[in-house]
This record gives sequence, C-alpha cells and structure tokens, in this order.
Amino acid sequence: GEASLEGFDHYMLKEIYEQPEALRNAMRGRLDDENATAVFGGLNLTPQQLRTVERIILTGCGTSWHSALVGEYLIEDLARIPVNVEYASELRYRNPPIENNTLVFGITQSGETADTLAALRETKRKGHRALAVCNVVGSSIAQAADGGVYLHAGPEIGVASTKAFTSQCCVLAMLALYFGRLRHLSFESGKSIIEDLRQLPNAVQQALTCNEQVRDVAKKYQNASTVLYLGRQYNFPTALEGALKLKEISYIHAEGYPAAEMKHGPIALVDEETPSVFIIPRGTTYDKVMSNMEEVKARGGPVIALASEDDPQVRAVADDVIAVPQVTEFLQPIVNVVPLQLLSYHIALLRGCDVDKPRNLAKSVTVE
Ligand code: AGP
Repeated sequence: GEASLEGFDHYMLKEIYEQPEALRNAMRGRLDDENATAVFGGLNLTPQQLRTVERIILTGCGTSWHSALVGEYLIEDLARIPVNVEYASELRYRNPPIENNTLVFGITQSGETADTLAALRETKRKGHRALAVCNVVGSSIAQAADGGVYLHAGPEIGVASTKAFTSQCCVLAMLALYFGRLRHLSFESGKSIIEDLRQLPNAVQQALTCNEQVRDVAKKYQNASTVLYLGRQYNFPTALEGALKLKEISYIHAEGYPAAEMKHGPIALVDEETPSVFIIPRGTTYDKVMSNMEEVKARGGPVIALASEDDPQVRAVADDVIAVPQVTEFLQPIVNVVPLQLLSYHIALLRGCDVDKPRNLAKSVTVE
C-alpha cells in the first residue's frame, strides 16, 4: 500500500521516527551553498516580485496554524518582513483590510482543509497572491494556490500531525532564509543558517533517543486531568503544539501558554495534581523561563522540563528532565516538539486510547 507500519505499533510512532528523513527530504535540492540561500521551484513569482512583498499572512488550522506561528518568528527574525498569523476559519469571514504587496501562505498537510482553502480563495479574490505550503501533491489547496512549496514528508496517516509539523517549520525556515537573502541578509549569515539546517536531521535523530525515558515520565503522569505546556518565543508555539497533541490522542485537558502569561491567570490551575511541562532550552529567555518554572514549583506544581543536555540548573528545580540536543534558537521547535509528541503517544497508549484514530477527529477536515 501507500504506507505500511513497517514494524511500528502505530502510524503515529512511525511518523515520529520518520522525522529525520522527512527533514532531509524537505531540504533536498533546496539549499544553495553557492549563493547561501534556499531555492524553490514552484513559487511562480520572480525574485523581483518577492522583493516588493511588504507583509506576509500565514494561515492554517490546528497544527498547521502552530507552524504558522513558528513561521512568524522565523520570517520576522531572518527576513524582517512583518507577518500576521490567522486562523483560516476566522480569516475567511473577517474581511480584514489587506495592504497591497501582501503575500498569503496557506499552510496545510492535507491540502484539503475547507477553511484554509476558503481563506486562500477569499484573499485571492481580493487580488492578493496566495501560495501553499502543502504536503499532498495535487491537493485542492495546491491547485487553488498561485504556487507553493511541497513538504515531501510522505503520507501522514496518524490523525495527530507529527512529521508534517516539523517539515512545515523546516520549509518556513528555508523560506525565511530565501526572503532574507533577497533583502538584507548577508552571505555569511545565509551560510550559517544553511549549516544549522544541515545539522537538524541529526539533532532530531538524537532527540528520538529520549523515547524510553519519556515513556517513564508518561507512566508517572498518565492520570493527570490537566497538563500545562509552557514556553517562550520560538517555544511558545511548541508549547501549543505539545498541548494539542496530548488533547487529541489522550483526551487529557491541556493548555499551552507563553510561560510568562501564567501569572495573569492560568497559574491558579497549579496544584500537586497538575503537572507543567516547561520548554526551557538554553537561549535568550532561559533565565526568564527559569523564574516562571520556579514560580510553579513554589506553588507545589510538578514540573517536567524539556532542557538542553547537561543543564544542572534545570535539574535542581524540575521533578523530571528530558534532555534534547541544543540547536540554534530558530530551529528549536523542530527538535523540542519530538519529546512532546512521544509524551502524548505514550500517555495515550497507557490510557488505552486509539492513537491513530482518536475519537471525534478526522485526518482532514473538509467541512467548515
Ligand atoms: C493535528 O494533529 C490535527 N489533527 C489538526 O489540527 C490538523 O493539523 C488541522 O486539521 C489542519 O490540517 P491540514 O494541515 O491538513 O490543513
């Protein structure tokens, strides 16, 4: 068939493990060392047209909306183009004023999500160019868009999206590099971004080795009724995605929040029975996340920390530490989401849930 389990118990687990390869496929032929940029065959817009883009709108649903949020950080950081992220289901009816020279990207694994398709059609109707970042070749959204980038992640069967998310983030990083190099980004910076991208599949491979340990953590927390996921900057969307994975397949209530936003309300949820997953790799907001983590600890909340390898400071505070390889900040969601995917997988299994076909959900949502 199109895809088989190849020895894995579930498609979701297989697809989690396919991520290093999916990332290699997303990057294949797209990194241009000579010009220190990325290249795309299907944008159908000239470099000159792309240079005049003054705003980018990224739209999608669910996990694809989360990768759009990562894309916002990436494109604003690396290309310095203002970005708005929109839920496709809201964008399609909101009729916001959109300036000229705005480029819209629909982000979608299936290419069949009704709201994303409608949002793209609606923005096109208003005269804006709409591109797709899509996995399924020839899908409705791929056809409706003016052009776009395929993920080449291979079929994703598990209802909970995994490899599509990391591939989308990777494609958005390459797009950010490309847009940056059409503008202000130096040759040297372009080269170092390419080097970082090249190390990514190995870092994800290494992150997968935490599987056994994550299973132990899952055993410990499998009976929780609420789990909080907290991170900042690039790891804020990672927190949202971790929470969505847990909700979808284990039916445990979970919330993702920017860690500092906790004190404005959600910290009231913290008690001995409510674990918080802190995403706290080394980086610009490390100290800030550390104090957010200490606040939760001080209120008796169990803390699971997702940290960089060899971090005694985190170990001193957290109840459980899952270590991931340290990568440059803008690629951290791709590495850090891996243990979160595994955590939800193991918790769902322990609770006897059908991980590949969770209740009430369909792989692609073709109704609005
Ligand atoms: C992800 O785990 C979900 N099943 C869901 O949120 C999904 O990402 C969303 O429906 C969008 O799908 P698409 O990427 O195929 O457009």
